[in-house]
Amino acid sequence: MLDANSYENCIPLLISKVKALEEAMFFEVPVGEEAKSIEVASQLWQALLDSGVDRNSLIVNLGGGCVSDIGGFVAAGYKRGIRYINVPTTLVGMVDAAIGGKTAVNLNGSKNQVGFFQMPDAVCVCTDFLDTLPDEEMMSGLFEMAKTMILSDADALTTMESVFVSDGISHEELTSLVVRCVKFKQDVVDADPRDKSIRRMLNFGHTFGHAIESFENEKGHSVSHGIAVGVGMACELYLSHKKLGMSEVPLKRYCSLLDSLVGMPKYTLRDTESILRFMKHDKKNRNDLILCTLIQEEGVPVIDVAIDENEVRDALLQIAKF
Ligand code: GLY
Repeated sequence: MLDANSYENCIPLLISKVKALEEAMFFEVPVGEEAKSIEVASQLWQALLDSGVDRNSLIVNLGGGCVSDIGGFVAAGYKRGIRYINVPTTLVGMVDAAIGGKTAVNLNGSKNQVGFFQMPDAVCVCTDFLDTLPDEEMMSGLFEMAKTMILSDADALTTMESVFVSDGISHEELTSLVVRCVKFKQDVVDADPRDKSIRRMLNFGHTFGHAIESFENEKGHSVSHGIAVGVGMACELYLSHKKLGMSEVPLKRYCSLLDSLVGMPKYTLRDTESILRFMKHDKKNRNDLILCTLIQEEGVPVIDVAIDENEVRDALLQIAKF
């Protein structure tokens, strides 16, 4: 399974490395979130059936998070589940989406409402694919990497400042950071494959981030997932400071980094109400409580912290002041 971007930019490199794939059948999905629908899944199941794909076949998902989400979903459902591997071609895919077996489609505009946990047989990460990635996609992935660093590294901000602010990091340095992030995520997934406890730490930045992404999309602005999560992390670091007593220093350093990279958003009171509306429908909520992963200090996450509506408004308005 692949989309037009991975077909154009990544197939030549992949086939030059894995000759066996010259024999593969290609199943193309729409680019982006359009791929993640039950209608696309149904068309793919029919195409697999028509092409004689059987229970011994192997699906290779080549692309970003949307390709691995729909490709994994289709593999999980086809003939009650066939094997698949993910070959991520975006940074978000490499450090997050391709790992851990979360597969899903969207339902009436609500993200990832129907899906399965179905682990890939393998995830093959090749950072050479990043050479063709557009800048905005790269930035989006760097924020997902930043998330992993804040969760795992007591000196996360220093690492991030050198990654984001210097003249750019070398391919080797980037690859070694990707490897660190992949190992961290795989360890978390191995410890909690079905998202019952510590895997939820990976939602850091995402409670606000998903709502900000939906809010911007509703206004007709396109914002990448990683950048929305980047803003979400600022809000959640602010609440980590307010509610868990995290020092103000990482909050200030992070906000200044975010501001220099993508500009700090300045929300109005009306914006905060719209973002809150999306947060109330977050599927991570339980018993009507909005839940976040917060940070005691860099490298020490705390899962399932309940936050109230005023704290949401406060965080969205206050981050612009740091
Ligand atoms: N992207 C979060 C997770 O895989 O659990």
